[in-house]
Amino acid sequence: MARLINSKSILVNKGLRNEGSKKIIERLRKTKRNKDFVIGISLARTNDSTRADTEEGMNDYINSLRSFVSSDIGDYYAINISCPNAFGGESFAEPKLLDELCTRLDMVSRTKPLYVKMPISISDDLFARLLAVLDTHNVQGVIIGNLQKDYSHIHPDDKKPESFCGGLSGAPCRDRSSELIIMTKSQYKNRFTIIGCGGVFSYQDAKEKFDAGADLIQLVTGMIYEGPGLVRKICKGLSNSL
Ligand SMILES: Cc1cc2nc3c(=O)[nH]c(=O)nc-3n(C[C@H](O)[C@H](O)[C@H](O)COP(=O)(O)O)c2cc1C
Repeated sequence: MARLINSKSILVNKGLRNEGSKKIIERLRKTKRNKDFVIGISLARTNDSTRADTEEGMNDYINSLRSFVSSDIGDYYAINISCPNAFGGESFAEPKLLDELCTRLDMVSRTKPLYVKMPISISDDLFARLLAVLDTHNVQGVIIGNLQKDYSHIHPDDKKPESFCGGLSGAPCRDRSSELIIMTKSQYKNRFTIIGCGGVFSYQDAKEKFDAGADLIQLVTGMIYEGPGLVRKICKGLSNSL
Protein backbone atom coordinates (compact mmCIF):
# COMPACT_ATOMS: atom_id res chain seq x y z
CA MET A 1 0.00 0.00 0.00
CA ALA A 2 1.08 3.60 -0.50
CA ARG A 3 -0.49 6.88 0.56
CA LEU A 4 -0.99 9.30 -2.31
CA ILE A 5 -1.64 12.31 -0.13
CA ASN A 6 -2.35 14.96 -2.76
CA SER A 7 -4.78 12.58 -4.42
CA LYS A 8 -6.47 11.77 -1.05
CA SER A 9 -6.03 8.15 -1.94
CA ILE A 10 -4.33 4.89 -1.02
CA LEU A 11 -2.80 2.74 -3.69
CA VAL A 12 -3.97 -0.72 -2.66
CA ASN A 13 -2.41 -3.95 -3.76
CA LYS A 14 -3.13 -6.13 -0.73
CA GLY A 15 -4.50 -9.07 -2.68
CA LEU A 16 -7.18 -9.98 -0.10
CA ARG A 17 -4.78 -11.28 2.55
CA ASN A 18 -6.70 -13.11 5.24
CA GLU A 19 -6.61 -16.33 7.27
CA GLY A 20 -9.50 -18.01 5.47
CA SER A 21 -13.06 -18.73 6.50
CA LYS A 22 -12.38 -21.53 9.02
CA LYS A 23 -10.07 -19.44 11.20
CA ILE A 24 -12.20 -16.33 10.86
CA ILE A 25 -15.31 -18.22 11.93
CA GLU A 26 -13.46 -19.60 14.97
CA ARG A 27 -12.24 -16.11 15.87
CA LEU A 28 -15.63 -14.45 15.46
CA ARG A 29 -17.28 -17.18 17.55
CA LYS A 30 -15.06 -16.18 20.45
CA THR A 31 -15.48 -12.44 19.93
CA LYS A 32 -17.77 -10.72 22.38
CA ARG A 33 -19.84 -7.89 20.89
CA ASN A 34 -22.81 -5.72 21.63
CA LYS A 35 -25.99 -7.07 20.06
CA ASP A 36 -26.36 -4.06 17.78
CA PHE A 37 -22.82 -4.30 16.42
CA VAL A 38 -23.24 -5.37 12.80
CA ILE A 39 -20.74 -7.76 11.26
CA GLY A 40 -20.51 -7.94 7.47
CA ILE A 41 -18.72 -10.87 5.93
CA SER A 42 -16.93 -10.01 2.69
CA LEU A 43 -16.27 -13.04 0.51
CA ALA A 44 -13.85 -13.22 -2.38
CA ARG A 45 -12.33 -16.18 -4.06
CA THR A 46 -8.98 -17.31 -2.69
CA ASN A 47 -6.20 -15.29 -4.22
CA ASP A 48 -3.93 -18.00 -5.59
CA SER A 49 -3.39 -19.93 -8.77
CA THR A 50 -5.39 -22.95 -7.52
CA ARG A 51 -8.61 -20.91 -7.56
CA ALA A 52 -7.95 -18.95 -10.74
CA ASP A 53 -10.00 -21.50 -12.68
CA THR A 54 -13.66 -20.39 -12.97
CA GLU A 55 -15.20 -23.57 -11.57
CA GLU A 56 -12.77 -23.66 -8.63
CA GLY A 57 -13.38 -19.97 -8.07
CA MET A 58 -17.11 -20.54 -7.93
CA ASN A 59 -16.76 -23.46 -5.52
CA ASP A 60 -14.61 -21.27 -3.33
CA TYR A 61 -17.31 -18.59 -2.99
CA ILE A 62 -20.03 -21.18 -2.36
CA ASN A 63 -18.04 -23.13 0.23
CA SER A 64 -17.15 -19.98 2.14
CA LEU A 65 -20.73 -18.70 2.09
CA ARG A 66 -22.02 -22.11 3.25
CA SER A 67 -19.51 -22.17 6.13
CA PHE A 68 -20.56 -18.75 7.41
CA VAL A 69 -24.30 -19.38 6.97
CA SER A 70 -24.19 -22.77 8.70
CA SER A 71 -22.15 -21.30 11.57
CA ASP A 72 -24.61 -18.40 11.82
CA ILE A 73 -21.74 -15.91 11.72
CA GLY A 74 -22.34 -12.52 10.11
CA ASP A 75 -25.32 -10.19 9.80
CA TYR A 76 -24.88 -9.73 6.06
CA TYR A 77 -22.70 -11.13 3.30
CA ALA A 78 -20.90 -9.23 0.57
CA ILE A 79 -19.75 -11.03 -2.53
CA ASN A 80 -16.68 -9.28 -3.87
CA ILE A 81 -16.56 -9.74 -7.64
CA SER A 82 -14.42 -6.68 -8.15
CA CYS A 83 -11.00 -7.08 -6.55
CA PRO A 84 -8.55 -5.76 -9.13
CA ASN A 85 -5.57 -7.34 -7.34
CA ALA A 86 -6.27 -11.06 -7.36
CA PHE A 87 -5.35 -14.09 -9.45
CA GLY A 88 -8.00 -14.58 -12.10
CA GLY A 89 -8.90 -10.90 -11.71
CA GLU A 90 -12.49 -9.78 -11.91
CA SER A 91 -13.73 -12.67 -14.01
CA PHE A 92 -17.17 -12.70 -12.35
CA ALA A 93 -17.71 -9.08 -13.37
CA GLU A 94 -19.01 -10.53 -16.62
CA PRO A 95 -22.76 -11.11 -17.12
CA LYS A 96 -22.72 -14.80 -18.06
CA LEU A 97 -20.31 -15.88 -15.33
CA LEU A 98 -22.04 -13.67 -12.78
CA ASP A 99 -25.32 -15.34 -13.67
CA GLU A 100 -23.73 -18.77 -13.11
CA LEU A 101 -22.21 -17.69 -9.82
CA CYS A 102 -25.50 -16.18 -8.57
CA THR A 103 -27.43 -19.31 -9.60
CA ARG A 104 -25.11 -21.30 -7.33
CA LEU A 105 -25.30 -18.71 -4.55
CA ASP A 106 -29.13 -18.86 -4.74
CA MET A 107 -28.90 -22.52 -3.70
CA VAL A 108 -27.40 -21.64 -0.34
CA SER A 109 -30.42 -21.20 1.90
CA ARG A 110 -30.00 -18.16 4.18
CA THR A 111 -31.97 -15.57 6.10
CA LYS A 112 -29.39 -12.76 6.09
CA PRO A 113 -29.08 -10.29 3.19
CA LEU A 114 -26.48 -10.69 0.49
CA TYR A 115 -24.89 -7.75 -1.35
CA VAL A 116 -22.60 -7.71 -4.34
CA LYS A 117 -19.54 -5.48 -4.31
CA MET A 118 -19.45 -3.84 -7.73
CA PRO A 119 -16.55 -2.66 -9.88
CA ILE A 120 -16.58 1.02 -10.85
CA SER A 121 -13.92 1.07 -13.56
CA ILE A 122 -16.19 -0.45 -16.18
CA SER A 123 -18.50 1.03 -18.80
CA ASP A 124 -22.07 2.12 -17.97
CA ASP A 125 -23.29 -0.54 -20.36
CA LEU A 126 -21.45 -3.40 -18.64
CA PHE A 127 -22.50 -2.09 -15.22
CA ALA A 128 -26.14 -2.06 -16.37
CA ARG A 129 -25.85 -5.62 -17.69
CA LEU A 130 -24.42 -6.82 -14.37
CA LEU A 131 -27.32 -5.18 -12.51
CA ALA A 132 -29.80 -6.84 -14.88
CA VAL A 133 -28.30 -10.21 -13.93
CA LEU A 134 -28.42 -9.47 -10.19
CA ASP A 135 -32.07 -8.40 -10.54
CA THR A 136 -32.99 -12.01 -11.43
CA HIS A 137 -31.33 -13.51 -8.34
CA ASN A 138 -31.66 -13.67 -4.57
CA VAL A 139 -29.47 -10.60 -4.10
CA GLN A 140 -30.67 -7.88 -1.74
CA GLY A 141 -28.31 -5.09 -2.66
CA VAL A 142 -25.17 -3.70 -4.22
CA ILE A 143 -22.11 -1.99 -2.77
CA ILE A 144 -21.02 0.73 -5.19
CA GLY A 145 -18.20 0.27 -5.32
CA ASN A 146 -14.66 -1.01 -5.33
CA LEU A 147 -11.33 0.64 -6.19
CA GLN A 148 -10.65 2.99 -9.12
CA LYS A 149 -8.33 1.54 -11.75
CA ASP A 150 -7.90 4.70 -13.82
CA TYR A 151 -4.55 6.23 -12.81
CA SER A 152 -5.34 9.54 -14.52
CA HIS A 153 -6.94 10.49 -11.17
CA ILE A 154 -3.52 10.63 -9.50
CA HIS A 155 -2.47 14.17 -8.61
CA PRO A 156 0.72 15.24 -10.50
CA ASP A 157 2.49 16.06 -7.19
CA ASP A 158 2.14 12.52 -5.86
CA LYS A 159 5.28 10.45 -6.12
CA LYS A 160 4.34 7.16 -7.69
CA PRO A 161 5.80 4.06 -6.00
CA GLU A 162 8.42 2.29 -8.11
CA SER A 163 6.59 -0.90 -8.86
CA PHE A 164 3.27 0.70 -9.55
CA CYS A 165 0.22 -1.50 -9.50
CA GLY A 166 -3.06 -1.91 -7.64
CA GLY A 167 -6.27 0.09 -7.37
CA LEU A 168 -6.87 3.61 -6.06
CA SER A 169 -9.12 4.22 -3.07
CA GLY A 170 -10.51 7.49 -1.71
CA ALA A 171 -11.15 10.64 -3.74
CA PRO A 172 -10.46 9.01 -7.14
CA CYS A 173 -13.49 6.74 -6.51
CA ARG A 174 -15.91 9.46 -5.40
CA ASP A 175 -17.49 10.79 -8.59
CA ARG A 176 -17.68 7.51 -10.46
CA SER A 177 -19.28 5.69 -7.55
CA SER A 178 -21.87 8.49 -7.14
CA GLU A 179 -22.63 8.37 -10.88
CA LEU A 180 -23.25 4.63 -10.73
CA ILE A 181 -25.42 5.01 -7.62
CA ILE A 182 -27.61 7.53 -9.49
CA MET A 183 -27.85 5.16 -12.44
CA THR A 184 -28.80 2.20 -10.24
CA LYS A 185 -31.37 4.14 -8.22
CA SER A 186 -33.07 5.68 -11.24
CA GLN A 187 -33.44 2.32 -12.95
CA TYR A 188 -34.18 0.02 -10.02
CA LYS A 189 -35.81 2.32 -7.44
CA ASN A 190 -35.95 0.26 -4.20
CA ARG A 191 -35.17 -3.14 -5.74
CA PHE A 192 -31.65 -3.06 -4.32
CA THR A 193 -30.35 -1.72 -1.04
CA ILE A 194 -27.58 0.57 -2.26
CA ILE A 195 -24.46 0.89 -0.12
CA GLY A 196 -22.51 3.95 -1.24
CA CYS A 197 -18.75 3.61 -0.98
CA GLY A 198 -15.87 5.61 -2.38
CA GLY A 199 -14.24 8.87 -1.36
CA VAL A 200 -16.31 9.74 1.71
CA PHE A 201 -14.19 12.12 3.83
CA SER A 202 -16.89 14.42 5.22
CA TYR A 203 -20.61 14.69 5.87
CA GLN A 204 -20.91 16.58 2.56
CA ASP A 205 -19.47 13.55 0.74
CA ALA A 206 -21.83 11.26 2.65
CA LYS A 207 -24.77 13.53 1.81
CA GLU A 208 -23.79 13.41 -1.86
CA LYS A 209 -24.00 9.61 -1.73
CA PHE A 210 -27.39 9.68 0.05
CA ASP A 211 -28.68 12.30 -2.42
CA ALA A 212 -27.51 10.05 -5.25
CA GLY A 213 -29.68 7.26 -3.85
CA ALA A 214 -27.56 5.35 -1.33
CA ASP A 215 -29.33 3.77 1.67
CA LEU A 216 -26.14 3.20 3.65
CA ILE A 217 -22.53 4.36 3.51
CA GLN A 218 -19.27 2.46 3.83
CA LEU A 219 -15.88 4.10 4.05
CA VAL A 220 -12.26 3.08 4.48
CA THR A 221 -9.87 5.79 3.28
CA GLY A 222 -11.74 8.56 5.06
CA MET A 223 -10.92 6.81 8.36
CA ILE A 224 -7.26 6.48 7.37
CA TYR A 225 -6.90 10.20 6.59
CA GLU A 226 -9.35 11.71 9.09
CA GLY A 227 -9.23 9.17 11.96
CA PRO A 228 -12.02 7.21 13.63
CA GLY A 229 -13.79 10.39 14.81
CA LEU A 230 -14.93 10.85 11.21
CA VAL A 231 -18.03 8.69 11.67
CA ARG A 232 -19.28 10.81 14.54
CA LYS A 233 -18.52 14.00 12.56
CA ILE A 234 -20.44 12.70 9.55
CA CYS A 235 -23.45 11.73 11.66
CA LYS A 236 -23.43 15.13 13.38
CA GLY A 237 -23.07 17.01 10.10
CA LEU A 238 -25.88 15.03 8.51
CA SER A 239 -28.24 15.52 11.43
CA ASN A 240 -27.52 19.28 11.52
CA SER A 241 -28.15 19.57 7.80
CA LEU A 242 -31.59 17.92 8.04
C1 LIG B 1 -6.34 -0.82 2.64
C2 LIG B 1 -7.55 -1.21 1.84
C3 LIG B 1 -7.89 -2.55 1.72
C4 LIG B 1 -9.02 -2.93 0.98
N1 LIG B 1 -9.38 -4.26 0.91
C5 LIG B 1 -10.55 -4.61 0.33
C6 LIG B 1 -11.01 -5.95 0.39
O1 LIG B 1 -10.37 -6.84 0.93
N2 LIG B 1 -12.21 -6.24 -0.20
C7 LIG B 1 -12.97 -5.27 -0.82
O2 LIG B 1 -14.07 -5.57 -1.31
N3 LIG B 1 -12.53 -3.99 -0.89
C8 LIG B 1 -11.37 -3.64 -0.34
N4 LIG B 1 -10.93 -2.34 -0.40
C9 LIG B 1 -11.74 -1.34 -1.15
C10 LIG B 1 -12.67 -0.61 -0.20
O3 LIG B 1 -13.55 -1.52 0.43
C11 LIG B 1 -13.50 0.44 -0.93
O4 LIG B 1 -14.33 -0.18 -1.89
C12 LIG B 1 -12.64 1.49 -1.63
O5 LIG B 1 -11.45 1.75 -0.92
C13 LIG B 1 -13.41 2.80 -1.82
O6 LIG B 1 -13.82 3.30 -0.56
P1 LIG B 1 -12.99 4.43 0.26
O7 LIG B 1 -12.74 5.54 -0.71
O8 LIG B 1 -13.88 4.80 1.39
O9 LIG B 1 -11.73 3.78 0.71
C14 LIG B 1 -9.81 -1.93 0.33
C15 LIG B 1 -9.44 -0.57 0.45
C16 LIG B 1 -8.33 -0.21 1.18
C17 LIG B 1 -7.97 1.26 1.29
